[in-house]
Amino acid sequence: MQNPWWHRAVVYQIYPRSFADADGDGMGDLRGISAHLDHLACLGVDVIWLSPVYPSPQDDNGYDISDYQDIDPVFGDLAGFDELLAGVHARGMKLIMDLVVNHSSDEHPWFAESRSSKDNPKRDWYWWRPARDGMEPGAPGAEPTNWGAAFGGPAWEYDPATGEYYLHLFSRKQPDLNWENPEVREAVYTMMNWWLDRGVDGFRMDVINYISKDTTLPDGPVRPGIAYGDGSASYMNGPRIHEFLHEMHERVFAGRPQELLTVGEMPGVTIDEAKLFTDPARGEVDMVFQFDHVWVDRGADPWQLYPLRLTDLKAILGRWQAGLADNGWNSLYWNNHDQPRVVSRFGDDSPQYRVRSAQMLGAVLHLHRGTPYVYQGEELGMTNAPFATIADFRDIEALGQYVQAVDQEGRSPEDVLTVLRARGRDNARTPMQWDASPHAGFTTGTPWLAVNPNHTQVNAEAAVKDPDSVYHFYRKLIALRHEEPAVVYGDFTMLLPHDERLYAFTRTHGDTTLLVIGNFTGETVRAEIDDAAAWEAAELLLTNAAAPEDLVLQPWQAVIYRRISR
Ligand code: GLC
Repeated sequence: MQNPWWHRAVVYQIYPRSFADADGDGMGDLRGISAHLDHLACLGVDVIWLSPVYPSPQDDNGYDISDYQDIDPVFGDLAGFDELLAGVHARGMKLIMDLVVNHSSDEHPWFAESRSSKDNPKRDWYWWRPARDGMEPGAPGAEPTNWGAAFGGPAWEYDPATGEYYLHLFSRKQPDLNWENPEVREAVYTMMNWWLDRGVDGFRMDVINYISKDTTLPDGPVRPGIAYGDGSASYMNGPRIHEFLHEMHERVFAGRPQELLTVGEMPGVTIDEAKLFTDPARGEVDMVFQFDHVWVDRGADPWQLYPLRLTDLKAILGRWQAGLADNGWNSLYWNNHDQPRVVSRFGDDSPQYRVRSAQMLGAVLHLHRGTPYVYQGEELGMTNAPFATIADFRDIEALGQYVQAVDQEGRSPEDVLTVLRARGRDNARTPMQWDASPHAGFTTGTPWLAVNPNHTQVNAEAAVKDPDSVYHFYRKLIALRHEEPAVVYGDFTMLLPHDERLYAFTRTHGDTTLLVIGNFTGETVRAEIDDAAAWEAAELLLTNAAAPEDLVLQPWQAVIYRRISR
């Protein structure tokens, strides 16, 4: 079988709300994106993933969809979407949509019908259950299971109209769709086909490994100090997940002439499951977003910060590289709209090392085997934001978890804030920094979330002019993937697994071997690897500081060497 095109591709994620605002209402929009496509074409990316732009009450910034086949007026309209798609295709890029079908909005007509009466034909499109046995419906603790929702509070909402509860793993405005019902699946496939017929090039599938649930809905374990049970064993990689994804593949993707891309967001997915999901012979999805490496600095207590141990990060990513080496495919990411900025998290965002550490992190990620994803602003080395109080946050997750932790679980507001400042999703969602003007060139109005004050230094205009910027380094990394087959296909071998300072590996393809080393510290470090002298003499393909002598790397330096054996 021919290698699929997406093995060689780099994807760029746009969070439309925060990318570029063309009409001055403080919120990004489709015309704003269209106006900045050359920024992406010059960077060299192959695919754009658009976070949701569908009509939505915006409870979770568009991940709560009230109409799957239209555009929210805040972002534009279908004509503007077609224009954007044409502009993307004209530049030789592709565009994939966000597919959010684990849940809809509670304002979707499907849910309005479902909640209207117990015998409505769409009642069974969502998860309705009576109160816990022997308890008064609506009374505290009478929810059908003890599960907590991702954004705080219980995962069940009582609906007095019919005296039953509906399940929502996220906010109460995001009721979970019941994939057991074949009509639901049919409606989703019809909608997906409609978008593909319109010309889109695939989908990023939101929490897609949650769509199959254990229909007995048992209580989950309760961790000390946490108000609710953890129901994830009943819905992460549930009993029918492979069946559903294969059916979707058959009904939507199989046999289409287009070159398409599917990537499933899968919190809690294991390597063994991912092998099945991404085995081309099984016809499910092309690749998955796993979470192990972004949970590396998470511990038992959700409200404590755990520092990064580089050896843990290497062990996790090394396992995924080995696990999907022969069959299946990895996606590679540090950032997205749900993660803090990587330069602040694993690098050093001080003025001295921001650029160099952002470049090093990019080099290490992009030289792994898999398809890299760049999240808007990552190519500028954008940093976490200086949130002073809880009032500075807009994210429903931060606000909901704050209330649960402080009001229900008795945590100190300062402790909770410390973690939200470091890990909160709004860090990724501050407006894109285009230039040094008052709102960073993002909007002429008042931005929905404050721009990071460092936009006077950190912005696209300055980065494009500066040959040593993060932007140009990412451009070179992307070009290297397009030019050097070893970056795409090379076998991955981790070196120095016990070293807490250096991240080192080789990639071998045919007679070409690449050596990649990243210094994860602010000190100079010598790489003690086998064959050091030969590597010293090898071709230095890319680095972000002066060429090293004796493999002594400068603070946050990355090096990529190439040797051809004959
Ligand atoms: C995914 C999205 C996240 C959203 C959640 C619920 O994890 O990436 O932003 O809040 O699903 O849709």
